[in-house]
Amino acid sequence: MYKKIELPYTSLEPYISDETLNLHYGKHYLSYLERLNKMAGNLNESKEQIVLHIADFPSVIQDDLLYQVGGVLNHELYFQNMAPKKTPLKGELKEKIIKKYGSEENFIESFQKESKKLVGSGYTFLVIKKDGDIDILNLSNQDTPYSYGMIPIMALDLWEHAYYLDYKNDRNLYIHNFFQIVDFDYISNLYDEKKQQNL
Ligand SMILES: [Fe+2]
Repeated sequence: MYKKIELPYTSLEPYISDETLNLHYGKHYLSYLERLNKMAGNLNESKEQIVLHIADFPSVIQDDLLYQVGGVLNHELYFQNMAPKKTPLKGELKEKIIKKYGSEENFIESFQKESKKLVGSGYTFLVIKKDGDIDILNLSNQDTPYSYGMIPIMALDLWEHAYYLDYKNDRNLYIHNFFQIVDFDYISNLYDEKKQQNL
């Protein structure tokens, strides 16, 4: 069985209301986890391995399984890469971001610009590519970067359920405010942990 993650905080107010957080974690995320466990709870593979080996599953269940496991992986990264107060970038990821984007501010601007481009439901990710470079990427629905040989280390959920109660149709403000609560410390550590991983 795949176990739920615990939220590393109790509140993200005022940027995300407790009502949104509780619904998002307690209903949306846990529903994906429940459905994943119904389909694949008896496996010993990691969730990432399910995505990487999706072709080994019966073709009739592949799309559904990929959707559920993507929903779990994407939400777990999203919830874990936030904190009640923004934390700073550090280490090698900070160096890489400054080298590629010029400054942390420019990186944030590029990420926000990409998020604003996403049409419909999906996520904006920061990923580690096969060649070790980092990149910002939009994917739809519960599609995950693992399907494209990339490792996600940062995720912004852009489904309406992530912000609609708090921001209504002002998705741009939600995208802006995400950077008041982004846990760059967690993301920097995740980069260090994942950079050597071969998919
Ligand atoms: Fe979500």
